[in-house]
Amino acid sequence: MTVTTPVIPEAGEGIAPTGQSLEHEYLYARQEASRQTGPLGNPLRAGMPFDRVPDACTMVIFGVTGDLTARKLMPALYDLAVDHPLPEGFSVVGVSHRDWSDDDFRAVMKEAVTKSARTQVTEESWAMFARGLRYVQGDFKDPGLYVTLGERLTAIDEERRTGGNRLFYLATSPSYFTPIIANLGGSGVAKRQDIFSDPNENWHRVVIEKPFGRDITSARGLIQEMAAVFSERQIYRIDHYLGKETVQNVLAFRFANILFEPVFNRSYVDHVQITAAEAIGVEGRGGYYEEAGALRDMVQSHILQLLTVVAMEPPANFDGNAVRDEKVKVLRSVKPPTGDEVSVKTVRGQYVGGSSGGRHVGSYRTERGVEAESATETFAALKLEIDNWRWADVPFYLRTGKRLPRRVTEIAIEFKKVPHLMFQNMAGTDVTDVAPNVLTMRIQPDEGIALRFAAKVPGPTTRLRTVRMDFFYGASFGEAGPDAYERLLLDAMLGDPTLFARRDEVETAWSLVQPILDGWDDGATPTVPYESGSWGPREADDLIERDGRRWRRP
Ligand code: BG6
Repeated sequence: MTVTTPVIPEAGEGIAPTGQSLEHEYLYARQEASRQTGPLGNPLRAGMPFDRVPDACTMVIFGVTGDLTARKLMPALYDLAVDHPLPEGFSVVGVSHRDWSDDDFRAVMKEAVTKSARTQVTEESWAMFARGLRYVQGDFKDPGLYVTLGERLTAIDEERRTGGNRLFYLATSPSYFTPIIANLGGSGVAKRQDIFSDPNENWHRVVIEKPFGRDITSARGLIQEMAAVFSERQIYRIDHYLGKETVQNVLAFRFANILFEPVFNRSYVDHVQITAAEAIGVEGRGGYYEEAGALRDMVQSHILQLLTVVAMEPPANFDGNAVRDEKVKVLRSVKPPTGDEVSVKTVRGQYVGGSSGGRHVGSYRTERGVEAESATETFAALKLEIDNWRWADVPFYLRTGKRLPRRVTEIAIEFKKVPHLMFQNMAGTDVTDVAPNVLTMRIQPDEGIALRFAAKVPGPTTRLRTVRMDFFYGASFGEAGPDAYERLLLDAMLGDPTLFARRDEVETAWSLVQPILDGWDDGATPTVPYESGSWGPREADDLIERDGRRWRRP
């Protein structure tokens, strides 16, 4: 079949001969082109439906001058606008204290998008996207800002027909969350909508970036403050790991195949290892990191999310509440170490100088914004147990750290040994190289799934060796897929909360981490040094080797 790719008209303002706006014609043609060549310009994904088009809306980004907007949010929005149908009239209002005009904002964003977007930035497509960008300057704590913002939003609704739909995005430092939320509510710029609200009226939603608090008490406080202005169905707590294609693929792998689910349990699984290793250091975020540390920054959020997707029971269906009910259920079954167990089942490390990526790097304590005597952990390892029918007695070993040898995130399910190896003790056999089966789900990079199993080495003797069967996303689908933020921003605009953390999920995750934080505060587990470029402190090896197991070298 010959496919003719539609000619994409020039983007511009005005009306096309069809009677539609030029913007409409332009967006339509781009989407048609994407539909035929695949959403990522990728023939292996051609024909995928574009059935998820949100309503026209305005996204308001608080803290728009920060790193997150430049590296993630704006490139993701641009890629969505180019590759996926973002609605006609879609607009962004950036809010920050910096003295910028709309044009300054557009210029900075163009540079950021050119650097970080997945798709190419052309003059036409940028012009189309940039028309929807506006900037409002002000102090987040000043009620006057919200008056100006409200006026600007009303003007955009008229000019770009965004229908009063608003997505507020808090990309600021956490100290501003409370004043922004209170002012949004107090000024009427955001209105509360609950199940009794008219489903046909315009919608207001808020997306909030982690950290959702720094301990269970502050997390509960933030939950209450948000609940005073927004109903739970309006709140989208973002954890970008859930937007990663490969994390969602864990669910597809488990629940769309008959083969593996029957062995995902204590009868067959010896233990599970979850690793989220980074080669980078704190990259200028010393101030934030001093307050957070690896346990709050990575374990409380991303790693517990990975644990839930691998350990939860099959949800009734793929909808927001069904999936999140199961996630909360499994989190509630996790037994965190408490009291004396903390020093045995957790390790906290901090990088000292060493070699990373072939160059010498300094210690954490010499990073900008870090105390000279800091005890903040840049590495954490822990052993958790899940007290339920499926996983009782199957340890979950988790580790994460900065300045490790390379960037790799994976979940490895290590199965039990076979009960009897019939090849053993036979003359002419060699079974020394046979290790138990391991199923590895590689979240990043080299996204894919690998299965390790034993095979016979060809030849007249019975030699067995461990081999791997590999599935690579890249080979099967051309490339790994859109950035996590694209998926999550689109879901928030569509009002689909499945991949966002629900209030009880956040609270339960904090309740698991809190006893560890308390134990650490009591000095139970001193922070131990590890060399940059190593796999973490010796104590992390001890943690798992005490159980007769070893960390994988991913
Ligand atoms: C962020 C953490 O949430 O996730 C960072 O604050 C970390 O410290 C980052 O580097 C890791 O994300 P990714 O997608 O690069 O694995």
